[in-house]
Amino acid sequence: MSIHQATTLDVALGQRSYPVWIGHGLIADAARWRARLRGRHVLVVSNTTVAPLYLERLAQGLDGLTWSSFLLDDGEAHKSFANVERALEALAKLGATRDACVIALGGGVVGDLAGFAAACWMRGIDFIQFPTTLLAMVDSSVGGKTGVNLPAGKNLVGAFHQPRAVVADIDTLATLPVREYRAGLAEVIKGAAIGDEPFFAWLEAHAAALAAREDAAVIEAIARKVAYKAGVVARDETEQGERALLNLGHTFGHALETAGRYTALLHGEGVAVGMLLAARLSERLGMSEAADTARLQRLLETIGLPTAVPAGFDPEQLLALMRLDKKNTAGTLRLILWRGIGKAEIVSGVAEAEVLAVLREAVAR
Ligand code: NAD
Ligand code: GLY
Repeated sequence: MSIHQATTLDVALGQRSYPVWIGHGLIADAARWRARLRGRHVLVVSNTTVAPLYLERLAQGLDGLTWSSFLLDDGEAHKSFANVERALEALAKLGATRDACVIALGGGVVGDLAGFAAACWMRGIDFIQFPTTLLAMVDSSVGGKTGVNLPAGKNLVGAFHQPRAVVADIDTLATLPVREYRAGLAEVIKGAAIGDEPFFAWLEAHAAALAAREDAAVIEAIARKVAYKAGVVARDETEQGERALLNLGHTFGHALETAGRYTALLHGEGVAVGMLLAARLSERLGMSEAADTARLQRLLETIGLPTAVPAGFDPEQLLALMRLDKKNTAGTLRLILWRGIGKAEIVSGVAEAEVLAVLREAVAR
């Protein structure tokens, strides 16, 4: 029996349902997660920052199995097709059979790539997510979106491939830089802003505790965001409708990330500014109230997230980047907009002039 306490949530997908465990000491709690392995081959995918911190702890739980590791260099640039090929070669070298398992130990970059390699090997083998960033715990490890970037754009190649389990060991957050931690909180706020007004109010009440990384508040925030996302994924696994709402702020955010060459803003920071711009656009279009935008801005600021477009960004270039978004259809902008706290909707045919006005105002602020 496991000696560790964990909050357990379930992503309900019939026979492919899986647990998300959130708590302390979970990497070392091999009795718990080894029950989700079916075979004896394991490839651990991690990176050169995370592996020196946590691979040894994980390896102790792999005793008696045939396993090896494949390490990426650190950074978004390494979420590449070339590295998928290398991961597949590592599986071949391991002699991985159809019951093999890929373990992702790291943030969203590692998780997305490892999951995609698992989806490709022998047309799909198991994988288990061990997220080590807050962003990966509350977002990328749950829901089965896997993939890599191409020079032509981010996340252009991928597959829906659900993990067998998600093991969110809170202890790993102790080494996470504060900027990365806050970027993860942006994804928590996003979930509440889209579909859970009581959770948003809870975040407002606990913003100081979260900014100070107080344990109980962090665990509850992760659990509530995962529960919200798990519900959306269970209802709309392959994003035919509701799941698209999870992209609130992403069209603005991706444009900001790209314009900043992926160095000016982290993904979660782009989402924070992007959500605020989506809120301002919604307000401008008469869909939401100024008071809701103000609440969102206040919460982001209390957490220490950016709320302004970085100086020097060009509104026209940002609009051009937004035109490339995957959600658009035949030459019109399709955005996730806001009806206020806890209510988002997909809006097609948004007038570019309105978007440009919001961008110009944001750059001038
Ligand atoms: P990341 O994986 O690059 O990790 C951020 C940084 O933190 C990296 O430098 C990493 O090495 C370091 N790190 C990770 N864990 C650490 C720890 N415990 N201690 C110290 N350092 C640690 O970035 P991320 O924010 O976790 O994920 C972003 C990626 O996730 C993007 O590629 C994005 O497209 C993807 N994403 C995917 C989904 C999805 O549904 N699949 C959702 C959101 C984001
Ligand atoms: N991060 C958005 C999704 O998983 O759908």
